Amino acid sequence: MRLMNMALPIVKNTINEMIKNHLTSFEKLETFKIADIGCGSGPNTLLFMSEIIDTICNLSKQNNNHSLEISIVLNDLYKNDFNNIFSALSSFYEQLKEKYGYEFSQKCIISAVATSFYERLLPCKSLHFVHSSNSLHWLSQVPENLDNKGHIYMAKECLPTVFDAYKNQFYKDFYSFLNKRSQEILPTGRMILTLIGRSILEPSSNDCCCIWELLAQSLLDMVSQGLIKKEDVDSFNLPLYTPYNDELKAIVMKENSFDLEKIEVYKCNWDPDDDDEDYNNIFDQKKSGEKVVKCIRAITESLLVTHFGELFLDKVFKIYAEHIDDHLKMEKTKIINLTICLRKK
Ligand SMILES: C[S@@+](CC[C@H](N)C(=O)[O-])C[C@H]1O[C@@H](n2cnc3c(N)ncnc32)[C@H](O)[C@@H]1O
Repeated sequence: MRLMNMALPIVKNTINEMIKNHLTSFEKLETFKIADIGCGSGPNTLLFMSEIIDTICNLSKQNNNHSLEISIVLNDLYKNDFNNIFSALSSFYEQLKEKYGYEFSQKCIISAVATSFYERLLPCKSLHFVHSSNSLHWLSQVPENLDNKGHIYMAKECLPTVFDAYKNQFYKDFYSFLNKRSQEILPTGRMILTLIGRSILEPSSNDCCCIWELLAQSLLDMVSQGLIKKEDVDSFNLPLYTPYNDELKAIVMKENSFDLEKIEVYKCNWDPDDDDEDYNNIFDQKKSGEKVVKCIRAITESLLVTHFGELFLDKVFKIYAEHIDDHLKMEKTKIINLTICLRKK
């Protein structure tokens, strides 16, 4: 939720401003249509939606209690555990009833679309507002023909062709994402996207590559111990890209369906519970290491199991935690998050 919380004030301001100024007059607007793209299966998406509903209800009170219907479409890949979200819906609706009454709860319709966000998801001009958090750095595929032996992502020692291949894949994917959403979003509709990026143009910056290089190192340690094959590490690469904000701007301009209203850059510590800005102030690297590994395991486990099999996982993440601890003793590398606000032309 930390990432979503960072974007939340921007989302609330945007919705306020949209409903007040840019849509057909509030009195005429009957349904406010929202999509959360790459929603995942945890509690974040519904927590975030309840914040958006609060914002809309407050606006409604300020406008003679004009009550809007709200349509929320949740999107993720078909493998996502949508059942987990659906089973949380009954308590979500209970809370809505308690807060705003039965009548209103009936006007808030939640549905889901299980398709890649690089494809069309919804009918033409059917959305006012699109949100996505922590998802768009995932590529549609690993770049083709990568010669990236000993690494699993971009790294300082990679060949220039590796950086180009990742950049080109991201360019293609993000362009396609904008193009597909531009068909679905109404004119003047908005899209707020938060994704992991990097702080400088140089693609091998520490904030972009280091966390993955330590995972590659852990896999190579497993090779040294004879537990996995070197060829398997050589052929494993992450379908991920962490863009610099100018790269995002360039793709938005080229695709040309959206005006770029704002880009915000936030730096966070690897440990989601460590809010200390000071690079030299070590939090508790042992506990931090465990928490970092838990987060990375949650997002990479299925990819690793598909490629290497299940048996080795606990061991590799134990080695990874040691590498993370050692790294945090020397340096508090940051994760860079980018929030981009777009307005459909
Ligand atoms: C780290 S989770 C983020 C979940 C939630 N938005 C949050 O902030 O907690 C990333 C999600 O993006 C989804 N995802 C990745 N690539 C996708 C794609 N091409 N289409 C739809 N969802 C995708 C994953 O399945 C995963 O659920």
